[in-house]
Amino acid sequence: MEWILRLATHQDIPALHELIPHSVHQLQKDYYSHKVREGALGSVFGVDSQLIKDGTYFVVENNTSIIGCGGWSYRKLLYGSDQLHTIDESCLLNPKHDAARVRAFFVDPNYVRKGIGTAILKVCEEAITVNGYTRAELAATLTGEPLYTSYGYVAVERYEIELKNKLFLPVVRMLKSFTM
Ligand SMILES: CC(C)(COP(=O)(O)OP(=O)(O)OC[C@H]1O[C@@H](n2cnc3c(N)ncnc32)[C@H](O)[C@@H]1OP(=O)(O)O)[C@@H](O)C(=O)NCCC(=O)NCCS
Repeated sequence: MEWILRLATHQDIPALHELIPHSVHQLQKDYYSHKVREGALGSVFGVDSQLIKDGTYFVVENNTSIIGCGGWSYRKLLYGSDQLHTIDESCLLNPKHDAARVRAFFVDPNYVRKGIGTAILKVCEEAITVNGYTRAELAATLTGEPLYTSYGYVAVERYEIELKNKLFLPVVRMLKSFTM
């Protein structure tokens, strides 16, 4: 399969608005109920345009469409779309004592288990270490947990995010150290 990985631009946002719900509804259905997925879409799962502005968000595309996305961040926010941002949470991390964030991975259900998530994670980890961070942190969905586990991320906390429809999304806070 031919695909390329590149930095996301604002022109990609409409395609991301289609990819993200498609990925969530198809790939998370064994893990979360329809109502939970609906409650999380648009708030927890959605486009964070700050990442695109920061030049820390990537897309994978083949010759017809965008088939994967994901990124990293030097800002405090651990998850969430534009709708969840607050000024405090967009504040900058310090590589000396903070872990960089790994953020918002979504792959097209027709292209899973082909290494797209891996390719995006690798490029994020490269950028994270080049920027001086020695650790990365993320809030994984139960769907995403096996991907991150297979690349050395360790679950440190299981908790639930309260959604706009008052239901709860179980997630896993995971950490990886690059110094070992
Ligand atoms: C999580 C997700 C991004 C993984 O993307 P992907 O491109 O399929 O991942 P990869 O092909 O790079 O997988 C690499 C390895 O991770 C592990 N892995 C990934 N998905 C897995 C799954 N569903 N079950 C078990 N292991 C899995 C495997 O070890 C896999 O290697 P293998 O295929 O050789 O066995 C994708 O399933 C997805 O978009 N899920 C829905 C949205 C979501 O929940 N995103 C996570 C946000 S934290």
